[in-house]
Amino acid sequence: LKATEAATLLLNWYDRHHRDLPWRVSPPMAARGAVADPYHVWLSEVMLQQTTVQAVKAYFDKFLKLWPTVENLAAAETEEVMKAWAGLGYYARARNLKKCAEAVARDHGGRFPETEEGLKALPGIGDYTAAAVAAIAFDQRSAVLDGNIERVISRLHAIETPLPAAKPAMRRLVSELTPSDRPGDFAQAMMDLGATICTPKRPACALCPFRSNCRALAVADPETFPRKAGKKEK
Ligand code: ADE
Repeated sequence: LKATEAATLLLNWYDRHHRDLPWRVSPPMAARGAVADPYHVWLSEVMLQQTTVQAVKAYFDKFLKLWPTVENLAAAETEEVMKAWAGLGYYARARNLKKCAEAVARDHGGRFPETEEGLKALPGIGDYTAAAVAAIAFDQRSAVLDGNIERVISRLHAIETPLPAAKPAMRRLVSELTPSDRPGDFAQAMMDLGATICTPKRPACALCPFRSNCRALAVADPETFPRKAGKKEK
């Protein structure tokens, strides 16, 4: 399976089955050239670290009502931001959120940097968030790798090396698979596939766009990927 064919299979699936999420510009509008607001993408990605999509939705809406722009958030009282964050957990994320908004407002005129490097220089933005924002908000062909995507990749290629040792190889494979056309949709399609089809338990392989190309499905039980260190094969 060539990378371009894999990307096409996945994007066709995404066009039909993507989740409608408040921070997304869904494919019909995206096809007309609409792009996601970097502030929305960044805010959602920070909230989604260690919190479920379902729980994040309400917080995302609340934050945008309170602070419609990154400059509004930068100007907010830290106390107010912490209060609005209550319930999401991992409070260091909220502190960094505020610091990052201040840096964008103060050092970048309220506009997020458009490259992974530029994004990574901001407080609280690590490899994952920089890659996700660059791809989703700025259409950069960055390699986005989260837990869902690791699982999809490990099954697609039946990767025997356990995590975290397999990460560099996975990053290379994602990077090869990521298309230059719609890289942000590609990343989100991998996330949706991992969340709805290529699930940790009892994956719905019959519905998967990669069902004819998945090494794990061909040679073994997909559920046993990604391999875990210290566990013998069952
Ligand atoms: N998890 C983290 N980021 C996400 C996104 N943009 N869409 C769906 N799930 C996600």
